[in-house]
Amino acid sequence: METKIWRVDPQAPDPALIAEAAQAILSGQLVAFPTETVYGLGANAFDRQAVKRIFTAKGRPAQDPLIVHLASEELLSQVAAEIPPLAERLIEHFWPGPLTLVLPKQARVLDEITAGLPTVAVRVPAHAVALGLLRAAGVPLVAPSANRFGHVSPTTAQHVLEDLGGLIEGILDGGATNVGVESTVLDLTCSPPRLLRPGGISLEALQAQIGEVLYKTQLANAGDVFTAQRSPGLLAKHYAPRAELWLFSGKKEQALEKMRQTAEQCSQSGRQVGVLVSDEDRDWFSDLPLVVYCLGSERWLDEMAKNLYTALRLLDQQGIELILAREVEASGLGLAIRDRLRRAASRVIE
Ligand code: TXA
Ligand code: MG
Repeated sequence: METKIWRVDPQAPDPALIAEAAQAILSGQLVAFPTETVYGLGANAFDRQAVKRIFTAKGRPAQDPLIVHLASEELLSQVAAEIPPLAERLIEHFWPGPLTLVLPKQARVLDEITAGLPTVAVRVPAHAVALGLLRAAGVPLVAPSANRFGHVSPTTAQHVLEDLGGLIEGILDGGATNVGVESTVLDLTCSPPRLLRPGGISLEALQAQIGEVLYKTQLANAGDVFTAQRSPGLLAKHYAPRAELWLFSGKKEQALEKMRQTAEQCSQSGRQVGVLVSDEDRDWFSDLPLVVYCLGSERWLDEMAKNLYTALRLLDQQGIELILAREVEASGLGLAIRDRLRRAASRVIE
């Protein structure tokens, strides 16, 4: 199959092209589209065959549930059986936007979408192309990140093509996405609410609206029974480049010292080493014969988040075998960056 590309203006997409893509969706096809976070692989949420094809195209295990995307919050009762007051408050503040809410599901929501869970994850994306497609299709769309399962999420149409070219019918190309990491996933079916995946809306911003939110940084551990039951997809190793990634954690100076030594040793032994750094750390590596990729200043964590996945893909393309990175602070978008690097890492060095 040849994957069709519809190039559109991210702010004001051509309605004729959006209509074509919506038609493809309504005839059961898979169309990738940009959201404010990453590109999603869209299918009609009410079309069981199309939903199943998403898992095949991505190579995704069936027990990893999908997020339902809506054109507006007014449609929420189509998929959620209950909208608690906390949800209303969050929706008012953060929708459209990178916040996914886990709520009790309506019976009509397909089991393929929720992996048999009694809950559904749902959000309204803040992107003119995504919203245009949702409105034109007139149905909710399920849309996981448009990458092969376990790989780095796509932030450009080119990334989608690299992973899914020939496997899906089309891609709406609206340029690079803005946030660069996925939406925050918040479970509102328990009290206090639980952060299942840090993302585009910070934990602090959630707490400012609704008070206590539980977050366990060790969610990725296989022994975490809570997450295993609530959000099976979050346990797998994820967001990973092909290269091995080692993450340096702990005090800044010590971490940088170790990272530098490791970089030196590994490149001397003939490995292609790349380091992923902030502007502030860059000088530590400038005299070494390495590929140095700079994500931006630690003062602008949103900038670092936006560049993260492109950086991982570029390092892969340059033939890097080992990526060394240092853990950023956990505030704001830093928590999402941390989470993604932890999941991508084969070693965390303290
Ligand atoms: O930013 C995003 O959220 C992007 C864009 C395309 O919207 N989508 C995305 O989807 O990241 P995906 O499928 O890659 O990640 C969805 C995550 C999965 O890890 C899954 O486990 C969790 O949301 N999830 C989905 N339904 C759930 C549910 N009912 N309960 C708990 N977690 C759920
Ligand atoms: Mg994903």
